[in-house]
Amino acid sequence: MIRSGLAAALMAAAASPAFAFPEGALLGHTGGFGEEHCAACHFGGARHDDLDLAVEGLDLYAPGERYEFFVRIADPRGEVAGFQLALRFEDGSDAGALEAVDDGAQTGDLDGVTYASHDRPQALEDGEAVWRLSWTAPDAASGPVTLSAAGVSGPDDQSPIGDSTHLLELQLASED
Ligand code: HEC
Repeated sequence: MIRSGLAAALMAAAASPAFAFPEGALLGHTGGFGEEHCAACHFGGARHDDLDLAVEGLDLYAPGERYEFFVRIADPRGEVAGFQLALRFEDGSDAGALEAVDDGAQTGDLDGVTYASHDRPQALEDGEAVWRLSWTAPDAASGPVTLSAAGVSGPDDQSPIGDSTHLLELQLASED
């Protein structure tokens, strides 16, 4: 079952124009809003849902304000890591504007939603990988925004097997 699921996913990936491996994750894999996540292909390591994937610097938002924030993955046993995230309103539509600040991250659009992802497997230093992104909040206070993020850490073996997957969901409320 798992093997045929992986084969189907790899065929789907081969047909997709954006984000080839290993230069990023297939778009639409944050685990939020009914999406699949990295565990569709990556498995076999310890699972740490909600444990070792953190987003720092985003909480309450003021309309139109630009926030720089960090995505952090910690895995003391891993060698490389990657992530993907998106920010959406309750109806699933894209919220605000997401940008990559440093090398190592990139954005891409699928069905009107902007996703940020690693652009190459990032080497862990002291068991951690960090990416810096920015998000410009929507102009008007337009209700709660959900950040959905998924991550992978693994042994740097050019394979999706033996990797750990991580999931995180954050609710951002507007200040007024
Ligand atoms: C459709 C299948 C598929 C999905 C979904 C997928 N990956 Fe991958 N990923 C692969 C394959 C296959 C490789 C190995 C290819 C290579 O490294 O040349 C890989 C490699 C990687 C690597 C390098 C790992 C290593 O040990 O070398 C990272 C990091 C990674 N993916 C992150 C992610 C993240 C983060 C997600 C989810 C947001 C994700 N992937 C979703 C198939 C997938």
